[in-house]
Amino acid sequence: MNTVLPLLEAPPRTLQLSDSAREGLARTPFGLYVHVPFCATRCGYCDFNTYTADELGPGASRAEYAGTAIAELRQAAQTLGSDLPTVSTVFVGGGTPTLLAADDLAAVLAEVRRLFPVASDVEVTTEANPETVTPESLARLRAAGFTRISLGMQSAAEHVLAVLDRRHTPGRAVEAAHEARAAGFEHVNLDLIYGTPGETDADWAASLDAVLAAPVDHVSAYALIVEEGTRLARRIDRGELPVPDDDVLADRYEQADATLRAAGFDWYEVSNWARGEAARCRHNELYWANANWWGVGPGAHSHVGGLRWWNVKHPAAYAGRLLRGESPVQDTELLDDDDRALETVMLGLRLREGLPLTALSEAGRTRAADAVGRGLLEPGAHAAGRAVLTDRGRLLADALVRDLTD
Ligand SMILES: C[S@@+](CC[C@H](N)C(=O)[O-])C[C@H]1O[C@@H](n2cnc3c(N)ncnc32)[C@H](O)[C@@H]1O
Ligand code: SF4
Repeated sequence: MNTVLPLLEAPPRTLQLSDSAREGLARTPFGLYVHVPFCATRCGYCDFNTYTADELGPGASRAEYAGTAIAELRQAAQTLGSDLPTVSTVFVGGGTPTLLAADDLAAVLAEVRRLFPVASDVEVTTEANPETVTPESLARLRAAGFTRISLGMQSAAEHVLAVLDRRHTPGRAVEAAHEARAAGFEHVNLDLIYGTPGETDADWAASLDAVLAAPVDHVSAYALIVEEGTRLARRIDRGELPVPDDDVLADRYEQADATLRAAGFDWYEVSNWARGEAARCRHNELYWANANWWGVGPGAHSHVGGLRWWNVKHPAAYAGRLLRGESPVQDTELLDDDDRALETVMLGLRLREGLPLTALSEAGRTRAADAVGRGLLEPGAHAAGRAVLTDRGRLLADALVRDLTD
């Protein structure tokens, strides 16, 4: 990827969008992401841009965060100017958005509605940690216009949650899902992680059963990734915990897919299952389709018409910029045709619909034909001009993306 715009040696006062970047705004779905960079404690596996109260230091406060995010939303509306797109999805993620008062999240959403045209069927998601929501806070969020909630459950086994440094009991996530439904949320997701050191087949089966006993219409299941610099990575380096085993990860994935499928959930992206099309996360679909979105918050990434940019990472630096009326953008990057083609394959191949073979280079198309022979791509779809993963292909999706884009 090539960094093109030389504008950011000094912080820009405003972000400039070229005419070509603006071109597709009216006809491309547009999403807003709001990053909330706070957590009560840090889970040992997580390297997201999030801070505990101890880690945060001066210059950024949770209490003032909604106001800071609103300041960036106002800049966004000003930058987009007369080309203001209609917002089709809003996703508040983190970190732990529900560490903020429900009134603060409601205020951010109210400002989105004041500044932007919003689709009548807008999807509004918040992520949440199970221990940070109550029936009252969920009711407030629902009344404010949130339609979807994504709760981090990770596992139903107490000893697995302990290795992951999670603070909630196994039952709390399921209870929170019930509370969200009772509050009127249309869509409820639970996140699971598989392959944690010490997790057994029976633990994973119990986690899947627990999720299916909850009132959810969406499940995300991620293989545990050992991120450099995390407590988990240090424990593995010291030999206290084993590295997640690739064969075990593959078995767990197959077990998840079979169990979820039998319960009426279909995969629509390698790590995501939904009960029917209406239950898919439209915000994530917008990312995977490489549509347009504005990411608000420290470290948040944005994409409009081939221009990408990302904000300064630390909440104090971010708040400082906005306080001074400056743009929080750290840097920008203009995607060229090769970058965009690569992203289309990386994102599209992981989807159930796959991607047209015409999205591949000539060498990629030859390799796709080989992949059909190796049982990784569907032969019928291939004959009809598409690259669509088989069940076995899903287990090797990342390696296949590398192979097709080499
Ligand atoms: C921002 S968190 C979700 C909301 C909330 N902070 C929580 O943890 O409950 C997003 C999800 O990313 C996943 N995740 C984060 N780090 C991961 C890692 N190293 N390996 C696998 N999944 C990870 C977890 O499933 C987590 O629920
Ligand atoms: S997994 Fe969620 S709760 Fe845990 S540190 Fe990461 S963002 Fe925070």
